[in-house]
Amino acid sequence: MTEFPIDAVRAAFPALEGEFVFFDNAAGAQSPKTVLNAVANHLLHRNVQRGGRYKQSQEVDQAIARARASVALLVNARHPDEISFGMNATSFMRLISIAIGQSLSDRREIIVTDLDHEANIAVWLALEREGAKIVWWHFRDDGRLHPEDLDPLLSVRTRIVACTLASNAIGSTLNIAEVSRRAHAAGAEVFVDAVHYGPHGPIDVQAFDCDYLVCSGYKIFSPHMGFLWGRLETLNALPTFREDFVPDTTPAKLEIGTYIYENVAGMDAAVCYLEALGRRINPAVASRRAALVACAEAIQSYEAQLSRAMLDALAQVNATVYGIIERDQISHRTPTLCFNLPGISPATVTEMLAKQNIGVRDGHMYSPRLMKRLGLAKESGAVRASLVHYNTIEEVHRFGSALAEIAGA
Ligand SMILES: Cc1ncc(COP(=O)(O)O)c(C=O)c1O
Repeated sequence: MTEFPIDAVRAAFPALEGEFVFFDNAAGAQSPKTVLNAVANHLLHRNVQRGGRYKQSQEVDQAIARARASVALLVNARHPDEISFGMNATSFMRLISIAIGQSLSDRREIIVTDLDHEANIAVWLALEREGAKIVWWHFRDDGRLHPEDLDPLLSVRTRIVACTLASNAIGSTLNIAEVSRRAHAAGAEVFVDAVHYGPHGPIDVQAFDCDYLVCSGYKIFSPHMGFLWGRLETLNALPTFREDFVPDTTPAKLEIGTYIYENVAGMDAAVCYLEALGRRINPAVASRRAALVACAEAIQSYEAQLSRAMLDALAQVNATVYGIIERDQISHRTPTLCFNLPGISPATVTEMLAKQNIGVRDGHMYSPRLMKRLGLAKESGAVRASLVHYNTIEEVHRFGSALAEIAGA
């Protein structure tokens, strides 16, 4: 194993040239040049509809098939057809929730959490109109969901548990394999929001043993797009909307309408970027999947250093950090830090950081229930700094100095 090749990583991302410190990655990450090239290539050479008999159209079909195979490897799907492409994660959440709502029968209870992004709550709350009953799984004061807290919530009436792999607001992660074991023992399914977790660690739907998982490509270094993974037999059994002539099988049944093919080509290139990084870190890997896992694991341990440095910088200015702060618990978080400075509004902090060319975000992070649990007003919320593997300790130091100036002003 080699050191994390941060210089080579940064050189791959044209948007990172210059002085701007980009700590707003949880809202969408930057793309490497190879991804931008893939998008440009697609638009230049095959900006046509798929399914035609001419060469360019067949190349679109091939590009989508390649991307499907790549994304299947990224999440360790059993078959590329378990992957559907679309506009974003929220629209897939809604598609699946509508189908679940139409097949509730005597299992009418849906478990949702107050750690989740509102997208993975609202789509399930909307099913109350279909007769669903919502059961809340609350995170503990340590900022984490604990799978054992599910036990009293699960019953023969539970249809599905909808939960997040990592909080986009405070970064805590969840042991999905434990969730699935408990939910399946009760006869319920598990729907996983992997949007925030996507760029931060290995995704393995077989090890998670979940039933559905959604991601947004644009958080994983691709342009804007989303994808859904689901077991073939589970997706094929769902009553989804489609035109009569569309086969009732995945992926066709879930890819209704035209999505953005060039961005799917970009997603393929994003997976190839991660794979190449994995091979660089461990040249001995024996397969594409092994390279992706090597990359994700190296990212995880590099990002743990970033989390530690961020916690140190925030402690220096007496910030209140929400969620996991214990150094020995860092493996349970992503480098996504939500905090407030004493006596200064979140908006003021982000404005002052922006003046120093540092991009962070303030507000409720689309997790207003979580903010309420933290005792924060949803209008103002907190400041969030969200880092990924191309950020550096030097950037964290710059951020720390800027915060110290703001706190001292
Ligand atoms: C955890 C989480 N879930 C869901 C979403 C919504 O994703 P999309 O914008 O792809 O619909 C986001 C977006 O920030 C997110 O962070």
